[in-house]
This record gives sequence, C-alpha cells and structure tokens, in this order.
Amino acid sequence: MTADWTVRGTADVESLEIALLLEAVYQAYGYDFRGYSRGSLRRRLVRRMEVEGLKSLSALQECVLHDPACMKRLLLDLSVNVSSMFRDPSFYLAFRTKVVPLLRTYPFVRVWNAGCSTGEEAYSMAILLREHDLYDRTRIYATDMNQTVLDQARAGAFPLGKMQEYTSNYIRAGGTRAFSEYYVANGRNARFDSVLSDNIVFAEHNLVTDRSFNEFHVILCRNVMIYFDRSLQDHVLGLLHESLTTLGVLAIGLKESLEFTSHADCYEALDSSQRLYRRVR
Ligand SMILES: C[S@@+](CC[C@H](N)C(=O)[O-])C[C@H]1O[C@@H](n2cnc3c(N)ncnc32)[C@H](O)[C@@H]1O
Repeated sequence: MTADWTVRGTADVESLEIALLLEAVYQAYGYDFRGYSRGSLRRRLVRRMEVEGLKSLSALQECVLHDPACMKRLLLDLSVNVSSMFRDPSFYLAFRTKVVPLLRTYPFVRVWNAGCSTGEEAYSMAILLREHDLYDRTRIYATDMNQTVLDQARAGAFPLGKMQEYTSNYIRAGGTRAFSEYYVANGRNARFDSVLSDNIVFAEHNLVTDRSFNEFHVILCRNVMIYFDRSLQDHVLGLLHESLTTLGVLAIGLKESLEFTSHADCYEALDSSQRLYRRVR
C-alpha cells in the first residue's frame, strides 16, 4: 500500500492548528480557551496571526510559545473586553425595583462581578447600591481572567468622551442625580470618586480553571458565557450555582440564556426579559 501524503483539506488543517494552538496556550500559560465557541475564536486567532505578520496559525503557536508578549496581545484579543457603564439600562432599572428590596433584608451583601473587564459594571453597581443606601454594607468582588483589564479597572478612570453615553444610560437606568457628581475630569479621562471603589475588591479569577472562592448573594456574570460552547457554559453555571446562596440572585447577559442548560431547574425568574434569576434549589 502506498501512503497518501496529501493533507485532507485546508479546513481540516486549520481546525488541527487551532486545536494545537489552544492546547499550547493552555499547557504553557494555563489559559484554557478549548471550550470557547469556535466561530468567534477562529476570527480572533486569524486576526492576531495577520496583525503579527504571520503566515499560519502554526506560526502563531510558535510565536506565542517563544514570546510571552505575543501571548499577552493574544489574550487581549481573545478575552473581548467590551463593556460600558449602565450597559443595558433596562437591566439596571429592573435590578433597582426587583433586587434592591431583597437585598435590604440582608445585614451584609456580597456581590460577585465575574468577568468584570475594565470595571464599568462594578462601578455602575457601586453607584446604584450607594443610591439605595446599601453600598456601606456591600462588598463587590470584581474578577476577570485578564490582569491587564483589572489594572485599568482599579484605576477607576474611563474616557471622558464616553460620559455623554454613560449619562444617558444612567438616566435610563433610573438614576436621578447628576451623573457628573460621580467623577472629575482628569485630562482625557473621567476619574470616578474613590468612595465608589472603597468596597470593591478587584482580583484575578478564571471561570474555566479556578474554583468557587466564596458564597454570594448576587452574582453578575454578564456577556461572558456567550463566548463559551454549551458544555463550558454548563461547567461555569455549575461554578456560579455553587457560589450563590439559596435565594441569591444571578444576572446573565441579555443575549444569554439559562434555558436548556443543566442548571435551568435551579432558578426561577425574577425578570426573565432582563435575565435576572433567583436560586431556588
Ligand atoms: C465582553 S466582556 C463583559 C464585561 C462585562 N461583564 C459587561 O457585561 O459589560 C467579557 C469579559 O469576560 C472575561 N472573561 C472571558 N473568559 C473568562 C474566563 N474564563 N474567566 C474570567 N473572565 C473571563 C474577559 O476577559 C472580558 O473581560
């Protein structure tokens, strides 16, 4: 029998290159992207390959393995850090009316903001809870797998040019103060009042590879699982479930769903259109 040395097709080779690259990233750096949805992952890998001036994903693998700075750039591409203050204002409005009254019954509130990116969500929640006189008895644990975005989050400064959009979001989210009370202009940035970050702990945590680290009354994990495949979503939902007190509140992104997941039965909807759920078992 003569061997057939032709490869089975470009698509097969590319899938193999992606699998090997993700394995290399995991083995060398501990970041596990193997369960992320392949479509968007592929686009980002190919973009990074092109930006680095490389000819193949195998070449990107070599670059990542031999140059940690290349891995850092790739991590920023793969982690998709888009965020904004009072993102989806209707969600924050529902949080004010449906979750705040529940939180008033607790002497102390622990919130986990999982996948907090550059901190906009954590600061929005701090503002909201302060306006309802709950912030003094709250601690927000804001975590992300990406140290670079956490450093930005800790600085509490966001582009001044975004403040018009954020002010409009804040008002639509039920805010009644002047949003400008919360920040001062500092060059091109708006620096947020440091009292807002007094009760926020920013820390590195990877939802795929790290364990539960506390029990929370509220978990916000919005626009993170959308990048995961079904089995990774189930794994992360297990971690969130384990980390939530009974009757605790889970918030996921508006384009995400608990339906048909392995944990659907554990929750009842507080507001299904805003993806606000309460753990019932
Ligand atoms: C699109 S942002 C969402 C930010 C914010 N939650 C929001 O809704 O505006 C997704 C964030 O999830 C983080 N992320 C992705 N995979 C993660 C993982 N395995 N563990 C922790 N954070 C992760 C990314 O680094 C990124 O900052």
